[in-house]
Amino acid sequence: MRLALVSAFVVIAATRYSLATPYARNVAYHSPFESHPQGDPLSTSVLLWTRAAPVSGTSQPDQSVPICVHFAIFDNPTLKGRPLDSGDAFTSWDVDFTVKVDAGNLRPDSWYWYQFSDCTNAKTKSPVGRTRTFASPNTPAHLVNGGKPLKLAVFSCSNYPFGFFNAYRIASENVSADAFIHLGDYYYEYADGVFGNGHAIGRILPPRELATITDYRTRLSIYRTDAGLIEAHQNAPWITVWDDHEVADNTWKAGSTDSNDSVATGGCAFSPSQSCFTDRKSVGVRAYHEWLPIRQVAADDKLRIWRNFRIGKLLDLTMLDTRQYDRDVTDDTWNRQLVASLADQPERSMMGFEQEQWFFDRLTKSKQRGAVWRVVGQQVVFSQVLEGTFFNFDQWDGYRANRQRILDHISQNKIDNVVILSGDSHANWVSDLAFPNDTKTYDPHTGRGALGVEFAGTAVSSPSAFGTSITPSAANIISQELLALNPELMWSEGSFRGFFVLSITAEKMESSFYALSPGDLREYRFKGFVSAKFTVLPGQNRLQRPVAGGTVAAGALKKLGV
Ligand SMILES: *[C@@H]1O[C@H](CO)[C@@H](O)[C@H](O)[C@H]1NC(C)=O
Ligand SMILES: *[C@@H]1O[C@H](CO)[C@@H](O)[C@H](O)[C@H]1NC(C)=O
Ligand SMILES: *[C@@H]1O[C@H](CO)[C@@H](O)[C@H](O)[C@H]1NC(C)=O
Repeated sequence: MRLALVSAFVVIAATRYSLATPYARNVAYHSPFESHPQGDPLSTSVLLWTRAAPVSGTSQPDQSVPICVHFAIFDNPTLKGRPLDSGDAFTSWDVDFTVKVDAGNLRPDSWYWYQFSDCTNAKTKSPVGRTRTFASPNTPAHLVNGGKPLKLAVFSCSNYPFGFFNAYRIASENVSADAFIHLGDYYYEYADGVFGNGHAIGRILPPRELATITDYRTRLSIYRTDAGLIEAHQNAPWITVWDDHEVADNTWKAGSTDSNDSVATGGCAFSPSQSCFTDRKSVGVRAYHEWLPIRQVAADDKLRIWRNFRIGKLLDLTMLDTRQYDRDVTDDTWNRQLVASLADQPERSMMGFEQEQWFFDRLTKSKQRGAVWRVVGQQVVFSQVLEGTFFNFDQWDGYRANRQRILDHISQNKIDNVVILSGDSHANWVSDLAFPNDTKTYDPHTGRGALGVEFAGTAVSSPSAFGTSITPSAANIISQELLALNPELMWSEGSFRGFFVLSITAEKMESSFYALSPGDLREYRFKGFVSAKFTVLPGQNRLQRPVAGGTVAAGALKKLGV
């Protein structure tokens, strides 16, 4: 039994308190369990999360009193028999009463059920949650997940005032996803009404932009009232990375659209939150580690969330941080001209040197260990996308030499079966991975010369990048233009909110894009449809032709000659 209460800043060793001491029993109030996500599964352990906030008659919980929480994990949904792992953990106000335990002693590739309870009053229990482990790294690819396709549901950009998180619920109920991958913008930092007004559907936010630790914690607690989110968190493990809005809009390592640390130029004062960027970043990061079921990768580096999952010999899932860790200046609107002029500079970096070297090493090692697929979860659209006469410099188009280094690494080391996942953009973009403007080796018609594929998914609820509430037909006109301008872009879709699901076996990878109709976000309901489905075969490094089987239910598909 290992006990750990982990957060970015505070680690309370559970051994400081023993259950025999009456300390926790002095708590006069009981602990309701609000929701209990889990995540970062390995082959014999998985992180369990809960929050055990005291409810007292008085206004504020006592900041000095630790709360004891018991956990137990079982191999059956009715929690019969001996738990495979159990124990006590303490939490307190220091970590917003959140609890993370690393439940161990589990068998690889199996489903588990778990529950938390109040150490001082076993009758106070959390709902039962379901989670799973992944196959151990050496499991042959065709045996992973018992030989059934491994389904990873991929999300980005969940914006509370814009509507219910029905996407999560559909992925959980209808798709039975094995794990949820969130590529960031799990929440947004805006004051009520600034980006989305949810009053008509009872989704109301505090009237100030996030700046303090209390602001960030409160925002997370509000998001966690969404029924679809709660259900999805309780039914499968999540693997998350942040994007910009977990701190502020269009962040780079030292600033965002509305805040930086430059007192001289008013960077700390011009933010609506009146806060310097570094202060916001430090509390945003802290709240994220408290509230998300993420393993802290390096004990001494809370900013490091880039990490790798070896899921049998089927795949490596490599999660990157192109936002907060060490990113050079991005397009924060007021500096667009400057960033445009910097976009080709060789030293510009999305990830920082250390992470970039680690990423290259992961790709190489994944190939060496014989994993079939290399799935890369990261934030912003990777492929070159010419939008009319513009590029979006907040995407990889603003860091061209860095993208070139990645494509060079893949190409020179002949690393097959790279699948890049992207979020952030609020639209769907599916591309062959190719060197930008490469008309010599890359042939869009056949996909010859491509280096892999990119699946960039739309938002759970944030409005379309093509225009809020844009109709499918209006969006398709824009999509057709984008397809004409960008050879490697094969499918563009800009009106529906949704998510996509990778269904992975050793023989093929399928990517199904789910669309929700816009009106449905105003209610808690689960209508949706598969708007497009793509296949990738091992060794091909391109979308299987005919792309999307030759037909899609929404968006525009590139017309290819033969
Ligand atoms: C900070 O933001 C202000 C206000 O937009 C801008 O004028 C200034 O150049 C920024 N400073 C840095 C270092 O990014
Ligand atoms: C590709 O060509 C376009 C149009 O000429 C240019 O603006 C862009 O910078 C080129 N991309 C790269 C990566 O060189
Ligand atoms: C999900 O399942 C529910 C209940 O069976 C059904 O009403 C709904 O249409 C399904 N949604 C999707 C997207 O398949």
